[in-house]
This record gives sequence, structure tokens and C-alpha cells, in this order.
Amino acid sequence: MRSIIVIGTQWGDEGKGKVIDLLASQADLVVRAQGGNNAGHTIVVGDIEYRFHLVPSGILYPKTYCLIGGGTVIDPQVLLEEMQRLESQGVDLKGRLGISAYAHIIFPYHKLLDKLYEEQKGALAIGTTGRGIGPCYADKANRVGIRFCELLEPEILRSRLQAVLPIKNREIEAVFGKAPLVFDAVFEEYKRYGQALRPFLTDVEARIAQALSDDKKVLFEGAHGSLLDITFGTYPFVTSSSTISSGVSGGAGVGPSRIDHTIGVVKAYTTRVGSGAFPTALNEAELKLFVDNKTAREIGTTTGRLRRMGWFDACLVRHAVKLSGVDSFALTKLDILDGLDEIKICKGYRLDGRLLNQPPAIHEHLEKVEPVYETLPGWKCATKDINHYQDLPQAAQKYLARITELIGVPLSILSLGPERHRTIFIQDFF
Ligand code: GDP
Ligand code: IMO
Ligand code: MG
Repeated sequence: MRSIIVIGTQWGDEGKGKVIDLLASQADLVVRAQGGNNAGHTIVVGDIEYRFHLVPSGILYPKTYCLIGGGTVIDPQVLLEEMQRLESQGVDLKGRLGISAYAHIIFPYHKLLDKLYEEQKGALAIGTTGRGIGPCYADKANRVGIRFCELLEPEILRSRLQAVLPIKNREIEAVFGKAPLVFDAVFEEYKRYGQALRPFLTDVEARIAQALSDDKKVLFEGAHGSLLDITFGTYPFVTSSSTISSGVSGGAGVGPSRIDHTIGVVKAYTTRVGSGAFPTALNEAELKLFVDNKTAREIGTTTGRLRRMGWFDACLVRHAVKLSGVDSFALTKLDILDGLDEIKICKGYRLDGRLLNQPPAIHEHLEKVEPVYETLPGWKCATKDINHYQDLPQAAQKYLARITELIGVPLSILSLGPERHRTIFIQDFF
């Protein structure tokens, strides 16, 4: 196996960072291919907690080279801060991080407009991370975006910004009644970012193609979750990039025929941050039975918001498995269910008396569905120190077997805690 894509199968925060970090120990290249600093991946190594937003989660292994692909959107200020933070934590980035010429750049007007649109939408607000992701991808599609290659050339940056900023300022002033942005300030700031990031410009697409033809091991890091996909997610409560496996290969500039295996990361229950329907959300009584957000590590890495929690929803994950051609799944956070007497699994939905096997396309219908549950017994003991699958309590094995049956692909990795060693590999990779 030379090339593996890791994607999230729910609404994000499935524990992709941990899974990527584990697999990266054997990878030559780790590639982040879509999204921006709306992603937040936490990796725990001993007493240290690392937070990644844009830098690929493979950077902690000195021999691994990390790439940020052309499908991403980069806020250069945030990237530089993240790089500085990692360096202060002892992670050497020199000669180990490359950025594609094709990545789009997030400008201050993207961040401002993200917030203004959200305020304007009222009840239909998405609950975005406010990082300018949607407006930046919109400009890319509208062909008024500015890319990393252009950021690096001050005179080209100047002429692009001279064309775009007046349009943005008209919108900011006339539609929202806010103060316009000052050209010189934006230009000078971004020129500086371009110069600071220039050493990282890399022919990412060629580097990946070469690595694959040299039989090197390449890991593609998906961000967000399949239900946040711009096309197939719970639209309009989605992000603005394609979060499924084809979006990852497309964003990295790699043909789908070059991918050997796709791992779907599945959390043992469901979470959602931001707005949008959540059929299996816990009710108040059930919430009291669950561990709290802090203990469950369900506080947003990017925005600090509490993630909503719910029962495992096989209907959503089945949809994600199909969309990405998931070959096997990594199940995370089983340990969070340790204290429950009973655990519910949603097998499908009922909508106006009809049984549904996959989420309806219309969001208003998803808000109305009734989950069809089955209830399994809990195991009521700690699992975090278990090292072998067969040592798991019988009830936990049954829970995993039922999830496997409902989503239709085999379990390859089981995670029982945030730390690296709390992992059981059922299948070897690379
Ligand atoms: P990502 O965005 O998919 O990478 O996920 P996040 O990092 O945003 O959120 C997952 C959180 O759960 C992080 O704080 C991880 O350290 C933590 N985590 C990952 N796997 C496990 C696990 O198996 N058990 C527990 N208790 N925590 C985990
Ligand atoms: P990781 O990679 C969870 C959600 C936001 C919001 C919606 C749109 O950590 O799993 P955006 O700022 O992208 O326009 O917001 O998408 N969202 C995430 N939720 N995990 C993420 O990433 C997310 N990235 C975006 O909360 O509801
Ligand atoms: Mg996250």
C-alpha cells in the first residue's frame, strides 16, 4: 500500500488528527488538500498537546515531509502563527513543509464578509468558524481569487488587489454599511506575508507524483467531515470545500487511480459544531448520562465552541462510506461510552411514515426525520488500557460488530484514548 486517504465520515472532529499522526510515522509524505484553518486537529504526545489548523498532522515525525495542496485556502497570518507555535514546541519545519502555488489566499475582506453574511442570515446562519473560508472559495469559483503564486509576486499581487478590493469595498460599504478596507495597509501586510512564506513554495503536485512513482508512502489528510461536503453534505449547513475522498485527491492534484486505500474515521457517537439538523442529538436526560464536553474532549479546537453530542448515526456514516469509497474504518473515542448502561444506534430514519436508508437531500426534511434506534447494552468498565481487541468487554465487541455490519466495511483501527499508545491496529498499513 503506497497511498492512503484519511477522511472524516461525520460532521468533523472524528479524531482524524490522531489517526493521521499514527499513520504518518511510516509515511514519507503527508498532504493536506482542501479546506483551511476552519479545521482543527488535536494530537496528544505524552504531556504535549499539538493543535493543527493548516500544517499537516504528519509534521511531528522528523523524516516526514508535509505538503499543503492546491485545493486549500490559506490565511497566511494564521499559517505563520501556527508555524511559529510549532517551532516554539520544538517542531523543526525547515525543509519539511511545502505549499502549492495553486492554493488560494484568504484576505481580510473574506473574514469580514464571512461574519457579515452570518449576521445578515439570522436564523439561517450556518455557524461558520468565521475564518473567511466560504467567501474565499466563492471568489475562487468566481475567478476573482488570489493564489499563493500571486501573493509571492508584489507587482502581480498589487494589480490583482487593485482589481478586487474596490469591488469588495463597495459590498462592505453599500450592502453592510461598514468601513472600507485601506488598499495600502492590506497590500503591505500581504506583501510581507508573501515574503515570509516564499521559502515554502514547492511544486507539490510534481513532488507527490514523483513520490508515488518512486514507491514512497503518501498519506492524504482529509479535513472536516463528509456531511460538511459542499455537494453531498447537509447543505446549506456545510463548509465550502469537498471533504470526501475525491475532494482530497482533487485538491492534492492526484488522480483517483493512484489511491490504494481510503480510511474513514468514525467516532463511536456523533458530534456537530455550528448550526444544522442533528437527528440523533442527545436529549437533556441522556446528556446527563454522558461524560461532559470537557472530559469527552468535545470543545472545538478552532473556535472553542461546545460540540453538540448525539448517538451513533449509521444512516449518515453509510452515506459517507459510499460517497468516498471507504475501504476500512478507524473507530475513535469508544472509551467515552464506557460509563453508559445502554447505548443507542440509529439504523435509519422515518420521514412521514416512510423508512429512509440514507439522509434526505433537503435539510428541512433532515430536521423532521425520526431516528430508528436499536439499543445495545453498555459495558460499564474502562477500556482505555486495553491493548488487544479480544480483551475488550463482550458488549463493546458487540457494539463494534453492529456498527461494522450497519456501515458495511471492516474495522481497521480502534482508538481508546487521545494518546498514541491507546490504539489497537486490526490491520497494518503501508
Ligand atoms: P479531528 O478534527 O477529526 O482531528 O478531531 P479533533 O482533534 O478536532 O477532535 C477530536 C478530539 O478527541 C481531540 O481532542 C483528540 O485528542 C481526542 N481523541 C481522539 N481520539 C480519541 C479517543 O479515542 N478517545 C478519546 N477520549 N479522545 C480522543
Ligand atoms: P475538522 O477538520 C467540525 C463547520 C463549522 C460550520 C460549518 C461551516 O476539525 O474536523 P466554515 O467556517 O467551514 O464555513 O463553517 O462547518 N466546520 C467544522 N466542524 N470540524 C471541522 O473541521 C469543521 N470545519 C468546518 O462549524 O458549522
Ligand atoms: Mg477538529
